[in-house]
Amino acid sequence: MAQRGKWNSKIGFILAASGSAVGLGNLWRFPYTAGANGGGAFVLLYLASVLIIALPVMMAELSMGRFTQQNPVGAFRAIRDGWLWKGIGYLGVITGVMILSFYSVIAGWTVGYMVKTILGHFRTITPEGVAAQFASFTANPWLQILLLAFFIIITIWIVARGVSGGIEKSSKIMMPILLGILILFVIRSLTLDGAARGIEFYLKPDFSKVTAKTIIAAMGQAFFSLSLGMGAMMTYGSYLKKEENLANAGTWVVILDTCVALLAGFMIFPAIFSQGMDPAQGSGIMFNVIPFLFVNIPGGMFFGPLFFALLALAALTSTISMLEVPVSYMIDQKGWGRKKAAYIIGGIALLIGIPSALSQGAVPALGKLPLFHIDFFGLWDLVWGNLSLSVGAFFIAIFVGYVWKSRKAVEEIRQGSRFALAPVWSFLIKFVSPALILLILLGIFI
Ligand code: PHE
Repeated sequence: MAQRGKWNSKIGFILAASGSAVGLGNLWRFPYTAGANGGGAFVLLYLASVLIIALPVMMAELSMGRFTQQNPVGAFRAIRDGWLWKGIGYLGVITGVMILSFYSVIAGWTVGYMVKTILGHFRTITPEGVAAQFASFTANPWLQILLLAFFIIITIWIVARGVSGGIEKSSKIMMPILLGILILFVIRSLTLDGAARGIEFYLKPDFSKVTAKTIIAAMGQAFFSLSLGMGAMMTYGSYLKKEENLANAGTWVVILDTCVALLAGFMIFPAIFSQGMDPAQGSGIMFNVIPFLFVNIPGGMFFGPLFFALLALAALTSTISMLEVPVSYMIDQKGWGRKKAAYIIGGIALLIGIPSALSQGAVPALGKLPLFHIDFFGLWDLVWGNLSLSVGAFFIAIFVGYVWKSRKAVEEIRQGSRFALAPVWSFLIKFVSPALILLILLGIFI
């Protein structure tokens, strides 16, 4: 068997793993979810979810991955073979393909909009004009499929080049650029007229807006944003060398991801309020508000494309990790070559992604599914991007806490470093994370 991939350095791992974590989830999903859920109160709930629910699961996934040096299915089997646990591994592998399928639709839009801004489509245009352009853009079926295919093909191309030669190398280039562009935009946004009202909305918690739905949204967002619950971090952890400091690396990933999400809010809300726009308008924010804004300020010719380049880079480092999970499964368990696995699974994700791509206006029947009253994309996001990740995270916490035993996980983490917070972590992973996830999941069905 060919040798399994490995990260070349700790910083390479941190950049690749935070590349997975930092994505449209931070820059696009976080601001609009916060906007739709009352701003500051949601932000606080989100931070709490990250700290007491998600961070413990992050350590669980990383330690399980590094201990077994396996893809998610192999990792569960190596510790305890049984249909339930194997099933959770498979759920992760399938979830990877499914999230890749719909996520790449929005990722494709970022590329489409980058081109549109370069071509100057938004100059001398009204807010209504921007909305009309968005509608005709999403209603064009061939364009939608073309952009989806384009994005998945780039993802395949990088994953096919391997762990250190493809994923690590590309993350090392893309992540610093991404952080640089983001900071530039935060500064630009904060210096706009009327920025202060946006900041107030973003930071001042209004607890009267908090409902069970807000809490579910905050937790789901934490898992999605940190790439947890489907074995992506487990897979990335499996390429870590034993001597690396796992607790430290994992914490860095969480810190970076959280900072980027918070910064995204500082980029979006001042911008929205400076234009007197509605912060609760949902998922269209990025494509309806931003072009108008950044193209109509001095230097817009430059800022517009740069903004969408930021989104595209962030999305790419994330789609890579979604594809890597099923690919590592095929390599480890089925003996496939990396190239073959990347092309075939990527191709499948492309086919599955087509209904999501067409559900945003091109095919009206997919835009409002009879039973669910949402579009196909929204359904996929709910099922795979939220429920499946929460269910997966619940079982990972139970598995590490009780089946593998948190003591063993602590031993694994201590191979490369001290882990002074081990007792706190053990308590959280055994009692707090699973109990809260279960409560919140039950809340969804009630
Ligand atoms: N964390 C990514 C983001 O924030 C999305 C993602 C989810 C990536 C699950 C991998 C696995 O955009």
